Amino acid sequence: MPSTSIKNVPGNGLLGEPLAPWTYACTELHDLEYEKLFLSRWQFVGHCSEIPNPGDYLTQDIGRDNIIVMRDKVDDLRAFLNVCRHRASRLLEGSGNCGNNVQCPYHGWTYGLDGTLKGVPQQKNFPSFDRACYGLHKVELEVFHGLLFVRVKGNGESVVQQFAHTAHYFEKYDVSNYVRIANPREEIWDINWKVIWDNYLENYHIPLGHPGLNRLVRENDEYDELTSGVSYGVFVMNEKRSKVSEERQYQDALHYADHRVPDDLKGRWIQFGFSPNLGIDLYPEMLDLFQIVPLEVDRTLVRTSLYGHQNPTAEEVELRRLNRMINDPINEEDRKLCLRVQKGLRSYAYQPGPLSSQESCVFNFHELIRAQIPVTKLKNKPAFGSITAENAKLVDRY
Ligand code: FES
Ligand SMILES: [Fe+2]
Repeated sequence: MPSTSIKNVPGNGLLGEPLAPWTYACTELHDLEYEKLFLSRWQFVGHCSEIPNPGDYLTQDIGRDNIIVMRDKVDDLRAFLNVCRHRASRLLEGSGNCGNNVQCPYHGWTYGLDGTLKGVPQQKNFPSFDRACYGLHKVELEVFHGLLFVRVKGNGESVVQQFAHTAHYFEKYDVSNYVRIANPREEIWDINWKVIWDNYLENYHIPLGHPGLNRLVRENDEYDELTSGVSYGVFVMNEKRSKVSEERQYQDALHYADHRVPDDLKGRWIQFGFSPNLGIDLYPEMLDLFQIVPLEVDRTLVRTSLYGHQNPTAEEVELRRLNRMINDPINEEDRKLCLRVQKGLRSYAYQPGPLSSQESCVFNFHELIRAQIPVTKLKNKPAFGSITAENAKLVDRY
C-alpha cells in the first residue's frame, strides 16, 4: 500500500500505550531491532556531490555494518557492504578515489567498481575456485534529491514513495544541488537509541527543555505523519525578537537567505522525521541531518551532517554560523534530557504514562516497531534467551 497520511487511517486518532520499559534495555531485542528496523529500512549514507568523479567512494557506518558507495566510469552509483569476501577485512576507510579497483589490504583480492571479484593473488592455491561467486555484497541504493540512502535487506517502498506528497519540499530547497559544508560531527551518547528518537519526534518538551528554541520559533499547524514512518512539521520565526544576542541576530538576518526558497518557505524551518533514525531540518540557509546509529543497547552514535548551496554569500555564512550557535546547544539539551529518561526507565516501579496528542509521532513510531517486531507488544519481558523465539511465534500469529 502506498504511503499515506496517518490522519486518514481509520482508528489511528486514538493514542495507545508507548513501548514497555523493558524494550529499552534488552540486548537480545536490540539485535532484532538492528535487523528489522535498520538493515531492512532506508539508511542515509551521504550526498552524491561527495563522490562527483569516476572511482570516487565514500564509506559510512550504519551500525555494525559499514557501507561503500562508489561511482563507476559511466557515472553509475553502486552501494556495497564494506567487507571482503575472503576473510572479512574492511576494504575502504573514509572517502577518496580508488581508481579502477578496490584492493583488499589483507591478501590483495581485487574488486571492480561494479563489485565483481577481478583478481586473486596466487589463485592456483584455491582449488576449484569460481571468482564469479565472490563479488562484493551489493545493497540497494536510492538517490533521493541527491541524498544517498541504502537498504541492506528486504524490499518495499522506495524512499520517494515513503516521502510521498511531502517530497516536494526537497525540490523546493534544491537539495539535489547541495554540497557538504562541514565535516559530520559525531558523538557517543550512553543512551538507548529509541529514547533519542522518541525525543526527536515530539515537540511537547520544547517550552521547558529548549528555552532558546522556544524564544526563537513557534510551531504552526502544518504537519503530517505518514504510514511509512515519515513525519514533518513547520516552525516559523517568532515576531517578538529574542533577548539573547545570537538568537536575535539570527531572526534579523534570516531574510539574507530568502532568495534560496519560494515565498511560502521564507522565514521558516521544516523539520522531518524519517523513522527509525533520521531527522532532517531544512533551513533557508542550509540542511542538517541528525542521524542516530545504534551501537549497543545503551550506546548510540549521534551524527550531525550539514549540507547547503555552494558559494554562499558572506551574510549566509554568518547565518549558518548563528544557526549552529543556536542548534548545537539544543543537541546538548536533548542529550541531557534523554539521559534522564535512560536512567528513569530502569526504575523498579515505572510504568509508561499516557502520551499527549503532541506525542502522536512517538506513538506511531512505537506502532511501527510493534508491527515489525511483535514481541515488543508484550508488557513484560520474556524469559532470558527466548525473545527471538517468542517474536517468531508472534510473527506467525499476526
Ligand atoms: S581478507 Fe581480503 S583478501 Fe583476504
Ligand atoms: Fe529536543
